[in-house]
Amino acid sequence: MIRHLLSGADLDADTATQILDTAEEMAAVAGREVKKLPALRGRTVVNLFYEDSTRTRISFEAAAKRLSADVINFSAKGSSVAKGESLKDTALTLQAMGADAVVVRHPASGAPHRLADWVDGSVVNAGDGTHEHPTQALLDAYTMRSRLGRLAGLSVAVVGDVLHSRVARSNVLLLSTLGAKVTLVGPPTLIPVDIAAALAPGTGVCYDLDTVLPSSDVVMMLRVQRERMSDSYFPSAREYARRYGLDGPRMARLPEHAIVMHPGPMNRGMEITPEVADSSRSTIVEQVANGVSVRMAVLYLLLGGNNR
Ligand code: ASP
Ligand code: CP
Repeated sequence: MIRHLLSGADLDADTATQILDTAEEMAAVAGREVKKLPALRGRTVVNLFYEDSTRTRISFEAAAKRLSADVINFSAKGSSVAKGESLKDTALTLQAMGADAVVVRHPASGAPHRLADWVDGSVVNAGDGTHEHPTQALLDAYTMRSRLGRLAGLSVAVVGDVLHSRVARSNVLLLSTLGAKVTLVGPPTLIPVDIAAALAPGTGVCYDLDTVLPSSDVVMMLRVQRERMSDSYFPSAREYARRYGLDGPRMARLPEHAIVMHPGPMNRGMEITPEVADSSRSTIVEQVANGVSVRMAVLYLLLGGNNR
């Protein structure tokens, strides 16, 4: 097993499949009356969050607790980061407190990689800038596999603000490793020119959503990340929704078995309408629940369960 999980590219097909299979076993625990396993008793997991999060932070906390680990939640707001303390000094402080794993979200792309040089424990990237979010890709793959029965050969359309999306990047890397075919869809301003070739051979690009829908098994809508936009990348929110938003009539163009995904949080009415988000094809709430099982599997396998 790998020591850190920093990128979707860290996972070969066997390791990724091992995580998804372990997550299935973990999901069985969630169905029990007592949702706890003793696997990580005596181990410490630190959640180090320099950027806002609802799902990822809470699900890592729930995952660590279900494995009986001690959990320390650190959020930059209200900490000595406000007094100018560096990431390295913060990391060394956490190290001194005996962190076995550090789960980090940071606005700077590459911050988790730096952290991995400084701490003895495992580092898990919970989202770094516009770079990667590998556990989101794992929970997305888990959701596709459980809904559609396989990953190899699936056609997955990843739609919207690809430029600013760490979810898109990690998904392209992981899904290609697992044999799915990804097409990036969005306005040309939000799809970097060489991204498909740079990320994974076989990844396609299309600027017209309606063309892609009839042949997609999965359509993954991305949030328009206004907080990362310094420029105007499209004429107006209305125009964006008209060309790239998923609404009822567009959803009807999908094959009958196809599912609609979104990592959350959503801009309802912009990239996705409430009708679609709340429909039976939508896996959005399921993705959140699967996130706990997948993160349990990641922590369990990185920390060696009972075997260390
Ligand atoms: N929650 C995901 C992330 O942190 C997606 C998003 O914010 O749009 O990358
Ligand atoms: N999907 C996701 O990472 O959500 P949060 O930003 O709420 O953690």
